Amino acid sequence: MNTIINAGRHDIVVTNDFGSIINDMLHHKDAGNRSIFVIADEHTQLHCLPLLSGFLPATFHLIVIKPGEINKNLQTCQAVWEQLLEKGADRNALVINLGGGMVTDLGGFVAATYKRGIHFVNIPTSLLGMVDASCGGKTGVDLNHYKNMIGLFSFPEKVIVDPVFLKTLPDNEWKNGVAEIIKHGLIADTQILEVLKNEIKNNRSDNLTISLKEIIVDMIEKAIQVKAAIVEKDPFEKNERMFLNLGHTVGHALETLSLSQDEIALSHGEAIATGMICELHLSMKLSGFPHDDLSTISSIISDFFPLRKIRDAAFQELIHIIKADKKSSDGAINCVLLRKVGEPVIFKNISADLLLESFHFYNSVQK
Ligand SMILES: NC(=O)c1ccc[n+]([C@@H]2O[C@H](COP(=O)([O-])OP(=O)(O)OC[C@H]3O[C@@H](n4cnc5c(N)ncnc54)[C@H](O)[C@@H]3O)[C@@H](O)[C@H]2O)c1
Repeated sequence: MNTIINAGRHDIVVTNDFGSIINDMLHHKDAGNRSIFVIADEHTQLHCLPLLSGFLPATFHLIVIKPGEINKNLQTCQAVWEQLLEKGADRNALVINLGGGMVTDLGGFVAATYKRGIHFVNIPTSLLGMVDASCGGKTGVDLNHYKNMIGLFSFPEKVIVDPVFLKTLPDNEWKNGVAEIIKHGLIADTQILEVLKNEIKNNRSDNLTISLKEIIVDMIEKAIQVKAAIVEKDPFEKNERMFLNLGHTVGHALETLSLSQDEIALSHGEAIATGMICELHLSMKLSGFPHDDLSTISSIISDFFPLRKIRDAAFQELIHIIKADKKSSDGAINCVLLRKVGEPVIFKNISADLLLESFHFYNSVQK
């Protein structure tokens, strides 16, 4: 069964048979004779390309990049642009990005800028890539340690989401995706949160049970629908799309700091999970979010993610990074808060003191 989700400027096909979608796409009467370039990272080359390659013409070209956020930068783009040129990619070429959000963000950016833009298709292979990065046309790379500083909106020809690729995804990467599913639940779908709440309570070990994974897979479509409905209304993030930044004002700052300082950097999911707890605390202080919900949701998130405390010495640096973030304007701190689950609101000019209070609250709920 295929479900087609309209994300405004592009569709997302959720399927259990990605091969037939690829077949239809490549053999469509308007497809012409275009050369195919697959961009994968070293992990998705190993685990996901074998599933895909049989559906591609034998002449397809492969470009492999190093994995991880640390390689989501302009140097990697340059290497990919050079390979596209050397392998003869013309303006008709099609890029297939096969990987998590790092590959689809970078591959989309490379395709959107090569020869002023060639077509690309995304096949997300991580949970986060499926429920979040798949949707809405944001492409780009990091600049030094600043996340997603360089990039543009550019819409894929198609996005194909097939959970079959998740079979090889490590558990910690599943957790990164769950952070975004929780976020989608918090901003727009109380049902997602109810189901996850109960399941997570029963699954406190580091390894996820098969039954939890099945429940998570069942939620992929719903989680994409939440984001798709928002980006369809506001493709260029002027209004509602900002709601998707819940947890990300603090989360991105933590990620930036951790990438520059920590031997083992925080994952995106850990950073967003931490950010959500801080921002729910701000919501309790500023927008009437119920105290009981703050306690319940914070303890569920803290149980599910092995979260680290924020070092006191990092507090001021985090405030500095938050003020420099794309989401702030003229040094004023803006943030998405909740009035209650399912009711987000954008708050402007949040004081640094309140943010500091939220960091203390977050630390107080970590063991
Ligand atoms: N464009 C957007 O709207 C958007 C939204 C959210 C996040 N993002 C971006 O997405 C990135 C994070 O995405 P991510 O968590 O998918 O990161 P990622 O692409 O780095 O993938 C995480 C790890 O999982 C591996 N992996 C992926 N699929 C696998 C599979 N099927 N089997 C085995 N290993 C696999 C990758 O090689 C990598 O090591 C960040 O760069 C973030 O900025 C973009």
